[in-house]
Amino acid sequence: MKSFIPGSFLRKGTGGTCSARYCYGVWLRHLSILFQFGNVRGYPNTVAELGPGDSIGSGLAGLLGGAQNYFAFDVVKFTSQEQNIKIFNELIPLFKNRENIPDNKEFPNVYPRLATYKFPYASITERQLKKSLTEARIRRIRDNLTDISTSVNEDYAINFICPWFRPDIIRKESVDMIYSQAVLEHVDDLEFTYRTLYYWLKKGGSMSHQIDFTSHKITAVWNGHLSYSDFTWRLIRGQRPYLLNRQLLSTHIGLLKNTGFRVVAVIPVKGKNGLARNQLSNKYKNISEEDLTVSSAHILSKKE
Ligand SMILES: C[S@@+](CC[C@H](N)C(=O)[O-])C[C@H]1O[C@@H](n2cnc3c(N)ncnc32)[C@H](O)[C@@H]1O
Repeated sequence: MKSFIPGSFLRKGTGGTCSARYCYGVWLRHLSILFQFGNVRGYPNTVAELGPGDSIGSGLAGLLGGAQNYFAFDVVKFTSQEQNIKIFNELIPLFKNRENIPDNKEFPNVYPRLATYKFPYASITERQLKKSLTEARIRRIRDNLTDISTSVNEDYAINFICPWFRPDIIRKESVDMIYSQAVLEHVDDLEFTYRTLYYWLKKGGSMSHQIDFTSHKITAVWNGHLSYSDFTWRLIRGQRPYLLNRQLLSTHIGLLKNTGFRVVAVIPVKGKNGLARNQLSNKYKNISEEDLTVSSAHILSKKE
């Protein structure tokens, strides 16, 4: 019922990106997976993020690591200039000190898990860091933060587009890497979204998505949301701009392939003590064993 009160959704925020260490950890996780499985030649130059949430901190980490341009696309404006500048200032010493990646002890709910949490010199070289962390460059990014472009202007290092809904808001095949963290489980029109991301990505570009298939604590059991009929689920969503699309891992993989992506790595995590198949709504009773048990997955794909 609270979702019917205007603004109540915004006051809550989204959870993660109000912490600089979280943003640093998220960006370096996506980067590490990209270099581990993506067969990439170098650090991505132009990066786009879907659903940054409370701040654009993981994109700022991408810029501090060496990217030249960052696009953010959201449907609700949770970020503020003040928050972004605060996170940016806190990110700088993390890079300057080559801090290790905050691990699963510090962030037990953040995936993917990595083989090592040491600073990823394999993906960010010392040479590159020296260039990307000069005082002049840091000042330029900070200046950009007081003047973020909200309609696409490629002369700006940072573009924040909210709400976004048209593929032609940025140039076709202009992005090297697209990523999202805990977003694709919320997206209403997945097919359109994957088609749009395909349009934006350069040939040879990579896409890295961490998807959380749990009920986000709306139900006591991690997969309890799959026990409701579509009708009841629409009532639970109420007036919220988004909730959970209840799409399965196999649906994501099928859509990616149909759109033209090559799926190069899927890193699944199994949920514990979930509802059994016969406790799910009719819609989900016949899903595969993997869809029934996977509580999150990281999917890396390429456009070739
Ligand atoms: C759980 S928050 C995750 C925020 C952030 N990525 C993090 O790691 O904390 C989900 C985010 O997805 C955004 N979102 C929902 N539907 C979206 C869509 N169709 N396109 C882009 N972003 C969307 C929400 O506005 C919100 O910022």
